[in-house]
Amino acid sequence: MNRKDGTAKVTGTATYGAEHQIAGLVHGYLITANIASGKIVSINTETALKSPGVIKIITHENRPSIAEPTNNFMDSKIYEARLPLSDNQIHYGGQIIGLVVAETFEQARHAAHLVEVEYSSQPPDIDPEQVEFSDAPSMFGEDMTFKKGEFETGDLSDAMDQADIHITATYTTATELQAPMEPHAIIAHWEGNNALTVYEPSQWVVGSQQTYAELFDLSKEQVRIITPFIGGGFGSKAFPWSHAILCVAVARELQRPLKVVLSRRQMTANAGHRSQTEQTLSIGVKNDGTLLAIDHLAKSFTSPVDVFTEPCTGITPAMYRADNLRTRQELAVFNVGVPTFMRAPGENPGLWALESAMDELAWALDIDPVELRLKNETHQHQQKNLPFSAKAFSECLRVGVKEFGWFQEPRQVRSMSRDGQQIGWGMSASTFPALRGMATVTVRLLADGSAEVLTSANDMGTGCYTIVAGTASEILQLPVEQIQVKIGDSSLPNGGMAGGSQMTATLVPAVMSACQEVLKQAQKSTAIEALEYLKTSGQEAIEGTASSSPGEEGQKWAFQSWGAHFCEVSVDEEIARLRVKRWLSVMNVGRVMNPKTAASQVRGAIIMGIGHALMENCDFDPYLGLPTVYDLATYHYATHADVPRIEVIFVGEPDYNFNPAGVRGLGEIGITGVSAAIANAVYHATGKRIRDLPMTPDKLM
Ligand code: MOS
Repeated sequence: MNRKDGTAKVTGTATYGAEHQIAGLVHGYLITANIASGKIVSINTETALKSPGVIKIITHENRPSIAEPTNNFMDSKIYEARLPLSDNQIHYGGQIIGLVVAETFEQARHAAHLVEVEYSSQPPDIDPEQVEFSDAPSMFGEDMTFKKGEFETGDLSDAMDQADIHITATYTTATELQAPMEPHAIIAHWEGNNALTVYEPSQWVVGSQQTYAELFDLSKEQVRIITPFIGGGFGSKAFPWSHAILCVAVARELQRPLKVVLSRRQMTANAGHRSQTEQTLSIGVKNDGTLLAIDHLAKSFTSPVDVFTEPCTGITPAMYRADNLRTRQELAVFNVGVPTFMRAPGENPGLWALESAMDELAWALDIDPVELRLKNETHQHQQKNLPFSAKAFSECLRVGVKEFGWFQEPRQVRSMSRDGQQIGWGMSASTFPALRGMATVTVRLLADGSAEVLTSANDMGTGCYTIVAGTASEILQLPVEQIQVKIGDSSLPNGGMAGGSQMTATLVPAVMSACQEVLKQAQKSTAIEALEYLKTSGQEAIEGTASSSPGEEGQKWAFQSWGAHFCEVSVDEEIARLRVKRWLSVMNVGRVMNPKTAASQVRGAIIMGIGHALMENCDFDPYLGLPTVYDLATYHYATHADVPRIEVIFVGEPDYNFNPAGVRGLGEIGITGVSAAIANAVYHATGKRIRDLPMTPDKLM
C-alpha cells in the first residue's frame, strides 16, 4: 500500500500543530538566557512593553500559577521537572526566561529582543573531565529496574583470567539533536477557565491530556489535544515541554488563543537531545571465539533540572551469550537542557560500542565477524531469564551474507580499492526490544459502504494511518480507499503512545478486534454482507469498539526484534572523504504489516544512523556552555547526497506469542548498529579504528 496520508502531506493539506487557524489568535515569542549557569539579577521589560503590538510580557517576576503534575511515566509526564519561570536561576544556555505576547509574530519577536537582562554568571559544567559521575538512578521506578542498565552475573575477573584474548576499548558518541522537520509549536485555546484545546504535535495524546489537566487543575475531560499530523518526533514530542506549559498558562491569563513556535535555535536547548556518551567495554574470549565475559560501563550526562540516563547497557545481556556479564551506568550533571529519548535511546549508542568491539574481536581472533556473532548468539535474554520468541537473528545474518555477497575468504585490511579510493565492507547486528501497550478502537461501518476507524493514536510519519487502514480493509474486506482513519485527537478512544516502537503492536490487535466486533453485531463475515443488514435495519451505522492489551505472555517470553546491516564505504584518503556506497539490512520484526512503509521506516532509521555516524554533533562552547549549533545548516545530518541505495529485506515469522497480529514494530531498530557497521567498514578499508563519533574528516586523517 502507498502511504495513506502521503498525498495530504505533499500537497500541503495536512494540518500541523502551528497551522490550525483560530480566530483572534495572538503570538508568543520566547525570551531565552544567553548564559548557561548563574542567575538573573534584573530583567527590564519597560522598553519592550512600549513596542508596537505588545500585549503582555511574562517573566519569573510575574509568572502564572501552574500546579505540579504527578510526573511519572504512567500518569502524567513533563520533560523538564522544573516548571517554567520557577525562579531567577539559570541552569543551561537557552533556558526560557520569559514570553512576549503580541498581536503578530514579528512584533513579539522584536519586543523579545528589547528586554534587558542582567545576569550574574558562573563557569558552566560542560567538560566531561571536570564533572563527577555517580551511579545512575532508575528513571522508571523500582519495578522496571532493568532499564537502569545495572546487571551482574557470573564471576567477571575469574572469566577474564581464563580468556585467551581480551580487549578493552572506549567508544564515545556526541550530543545529538532529534531535529525533526516540523519545529516544536503549540496553540493553546481556552474557552473560559475550564475548557482547553491544545494543538500541538504529541506522540502520546492521552498522556498530554492528563498532564495538562494536572498542570491546570482540570479534569481530563476538560482538555482536548489535537494532533492529526506530526512532522517527525523521534522521542522529542512525547510529553509537554516548558514552552508549551508556559503557552497554556499565559493563554489562560489572557483568555486569548495563543501560539508559540520555537526557532531552531530555541529548539536546541528546549526540545531535547541525546546525551553524549562514553562507553568502556572489556570482553574476554576463547581462541575459538566463544565469549566468556563482557563488562560494559556507560557514562552519560543529564541536566541540573531533570534526570535522564542514556541507557546504553540495557541491550548487552540480550545480545550475545556470556556467562559472566556486568553492566553499569553512570551519570553526571552538565549545564545543558534536558536530554531525553531519541530514536533507540540506549540501544543506538549501546550497539555502537558493542558491535564495534565485536569487530575488533573478530580481527584479533582472525574469525569472520558474521561467524563470531553466529557462534555467540543467545536464545535467552540473560537478564530477564526468558527465552526469545520468534527470533530469526541467524537468518538475518545468513540472508545478509548471501544477498550482500559477503567475504568468501578471510578478509584483509586495505585489500580493496577502486578509482584511487580505499573500499571497505563492514557489518553489524541490529536489535530493539518489542513493546506493547493498551489501546481501544472504535470502528463504524456506514451505510454508504465506507468505514471509519477512530482512535486517539497518532502518526508522526511512521505509517500509522496506512497500517490501520490496511488492517481494517483486510478484516472487513473493503477496499482500503473506503476506510477513513481518524486519529490524533484525545477525544477519541485511547490509542496509546507512539514511543518505544510500540504503536503498531499496540494498535493493530485492537483494530482487528473492533472490526470483528462490527461483523459480529451484523452476524456477517464481510462488510459487504453487513451493509445489506444495515440497509434493511435502517440503522445509520454499525459500530464496534474493542480494547486490546498485553496479558501474561511477558512472563514467558522475551520479545525482541533483530537485524543485520551490511555496508560498503569508500575512503578518499587524500582528502579524508568517507562515503557510504551500498547498504543492505535484513530485519526480523515479526509480521510486516505493509512492506512499502515498513521498508521506508527502516530506511529512514538507517539514514538517521548515517547522520549519527558521520556528522551529527551538537557541541557546546567550553567557556560559555552555549550550543555552537543552532539551525539545520550548523547541525549537519545526512542529506540525499550522503545516502546510497538502501536495500531492506524482511525475514522470520509473525510473532504470535506477542500479540494476535504477530507484529513487533520497527520504528527504532533500523538505526541500531548502523554507526558500527560503518566504522567496521572504515577499518577494513583503511586499517584505522575509529572509536569516537561522529567520523568527521579530521578523524580519518
Ligand atoms: Mo521514541 S525515542 O520511543 O519516540
